[in-house]
Amino acid sequence: LRSRRPLPTAFEVPLPRPAVRCPDSSGRLAIVQRVADVEILPGVKTQVWGYDGTFPGPTIETRAGSPVTITHTNELPVPTATHLHGGHTPSDSDGWPTDLVEPRGATARATGGPSHSGGHASMADPDANVSNGSRDYRYPMDQQAATLWYHDHRMDFTGPAVWRGLAGMHLVRDDHEDSLGLPHGERELPLLIADRSFDSDGALRYPSRDRTLRVPGVTDQWMSGVLGDVMLVNGAPWPVAEVDAARYRLRIVNACNARRVTLVFETGGRGMPLTQVGSDGGLLARPRLLRELILAPGERVDVVVDFGTVPVGSRVTVRNTVGGGSTSQVMQFVVARRASDDSRVPDRLAERAPGLTVPASAPRRHFTFAMGSDGGTALWTINGKPFDPSRALASTPRDQTEVWRVTSNVHHPVHLHLDPFIVIGREELGWKDTVDMRPGETLDLAVRFHDYAGRYVMHCHNLEHEDMAMMARFDVT
Ligand code: C2O
Ligand code: CU
Repeated sequence: LRSRRPLPTAFEVPLPRPAVRCPDSSGRLAIVQRVADVEILPGVKTQVWGYDGTFPGPTIETRAGSPVTITHTNELPVPTATHLHGGHTPSDSDGWPTDLVEPRGATARATGGPSHSGGHASMADPDANVSNGSRDYRYPMDQQAATLWYHDHRMDFTGPAVWRGLAGMHLVRDDHEDSLGLPHGERELPLLIADRSFDSDGALRYPSRDRTLRVPGVTDQWMSGVLGDVMLVNGAPWPVAEVDAARYRLRIVNACNARRVTLVFETGGRGMPLTQVGSDGGLLARPRLLRELILAPGERVDVVVDFGTVPVGSRVTVRNTVGGGSTSQVMQFVVARRASDDSRVPDRLAERAPGLTVPASAPRRHFTFAMGSDGGTALWTINGKPFDPSRALASTPRDQTEVWRVTSNVHHPVHLHLDPFIVIGREELGWKDTVDMRPGETLDLAVRFHDYAGRYVMHCHNLEHEDMAMMARFDVT
């Protein structure tokens, strides 16, 4: 989607560091979702929907084992549902797509309209738990250190809501990870990557079928996913960051609606080695040396880059080798000064190596992600069915290991809520909750839902696919 404004020059806007918010001593944190005018492109204001009015929202930091309650207040013009992606969260706090928080001050359903009107047929959810104005999301944080993120998850409208800014990072920390000596403080950078397009007046441009967001979906030409032409990192276009000649830990999330990226760090025409230390669900067993980082929407990578290996004054460009034109560059680091560095990357990372033992008798299920239709309307489906919140495609007992075979017709970043999984045959990827599936690919996932019983969703994390029904309910019993 082309911006209708001249694009800003790359590597001039400084990389922002989102505000960090931690729960108070009683484990509480309050966030207000609101409209705000912010400067994204130099010299013009852009209206965003932001957690605390910023895009990205604040980086939330919590400790493993310390439960937190986050009160989200909705001052936006539309209902929302907030999901902590990667959180091991009880069902009623998971941002179930119809557990809406109606705008504050609105009489229920007056402002948002019937949230599930139009679009596909079988959408009513008799069990929806709608709140008015605000909601407490309870996160037990019974999980290990990991790079999570949070974003809107309202049924049928996640794409436009996230596009407008409803996304932020959430870092879970624990004592084991703290003891490793990885780069930290100023030398740990969250990087939330998102492509966007802008209108001539600076507004975010999104090709909704219905601009009032009552009828879901995008115009036909964007059925495969909305792509922007401006690469934002932490909400800034092609930013630049000054760094010490030292190791940095980068917590990268692909928060694009639909764009896959392949990142390389280049200086003087040569790629720098990258040391992956973690993936979606936490630390890897041991560090993994990579030349490029492939990230589909929703995926995270936790990587250490040593800027001490290049001369002071070097410019290191993060390029996207699968992007064209303006999207082939992402950001730049300038190695500004020599500095001491006592960080390290130990050979053993995770306390317990990621993995699941799959018994020969493990139940098997098959999920096919493909195009389908509903009463003549083309949409995206799982096993031929559009999302129906009132019907589960699978029901699995807690703590049972199963093999979920997933088949994908085109690129689909397949995401499961509640607990991460292991991609069988690709154990080096660690704990994953989102897997980048290639066209025609079939993968076997070892899954085991351990934490809570209840209803959860699996879906494609291409947000336009998700909004156009590529989501399914599964029940943990
Ligand atoms: Cu990142 Cu179900 O979402
Ligand atoms: Cu998809």
